[in-house]
Amino acid sequence: MEDRELFGDGGVQENVVHNLKELKRSAPELYGIPTGMKLDEMFYKIEVEDGKIKKRALGGIPYLSIMNVVGQPDTGKSLFAQQFSVYQSGRGYPVVFCTVETPANFLYTQFKQKASIMGMDFEKVEENTLVVDASSSWSLRNNLRSFLDTLEYAVKKKDAKIVVIDSITGLYENKEMMARQVVREVYNTLKKMKVTAILISQKRSGHQADTPEAAGGLAVAHILDGTIIFNKIIIASPSVARTYHMPLGSVLRTLRIDGCRMAAHDSDEHVFEITEEGLIEIKERLSEFIAKREEKD
Ligand SMILES: Nc1ncnc2c1ncn2[C@@H]1O[C@H](COP(=O)(O)OP(=O)(O)OP(=O)(O)O)[C@@H](O)[C@H]1O
Ligand SMILES: [Mg+2]
Repeated sequence: MEDRELFGDGGVQENVVHNLKELKRSAPELYGIPTGMKLDEMFYKIEVEDGKIKKRALGGIPYLSIMNVVGQPDTGKSLFAQQFSVYQSGRGYPVVFCTVETPANFLYTQFKQKASIMGMDFEKVEENTLVVDASSSWSLRNNLRSFLDTLEYAVKKKDAKIVVIDSITGLYENKEMMARQVVREVYNTLKKMKVTAILISQKRSGHQADTPEAAGGLAVAHILDGTIIFNKIIIASPSVARTYHMPLGSVLRTLRIDGCRMAAHDSDEHVFEITEEGLIEIKERLSEFIAKREEKD
């Protein structure tokens, strides 16, 4: 006797078997959704030209990908998500920004400031940004069906092509064993709506800083299409200061595309800065940064 829980009712499902050729119509084109940051040059497209393999910058995060942005507190994840959001909405593309932590009214000031520093038209940003405020609604954070329905409503309302969720971790606070199911449902809903999305996830105190591990374990990284890790290294000892050629007590910020199943990408650690105005500026590879400083010292 077969275990019904494992085998179900059985039966062939012909509709899931496709000839590769039939998939052409539904295959998404590979191109980038620009972030306005150097990250746009870190995803590639591989093309064959005159028999030679060429690497071309995608010009953004892969279209229709659902990306995971992970890092410890204060590493710049929210700044990154907001900058991407303002950059897109300011160029006329509707964005649904779902805030699970910062109340929506605080976002207004932050977005306005960003737009003016980035030289974007704030009227356009206002017009094209739809904020879903889950921070103020316990029931939205704790009722997944309601959250997904609301997200879908917002996307349809603006015909948005971009979704940001800051953070997905807030949807399984105090129930991390549910993380895999929650993330899977959110992922499926975003895929169904054909949007490009950034989901932020938080690390817990025991997690190593430079890994994709986050609250809920590796579930988020496994399910989503790719991971970008944000890190900050405190130059806290003379030996670390010597390694990075940086003064004691300073902070070195880095990010890395840890993996992406949608497009080829640079996997090297890159240095970035958070400017005084709160903008993310991605610089060179960490190896280049160290080599330059070694030369100088
Ligand atoms: N003008 C600015 N506006 C906001 N943050 C700034 C600004 N200038 C510098 N920063 C720095 O950037 C950090 C903000 O990082 P951010 O809020 O993006 O962190 P996070 O990775 O989202 O953290 P958390 O996991 O706690 O949400 C601040 O703590 C601050 O050190
Ligand atoms: Mg944050």
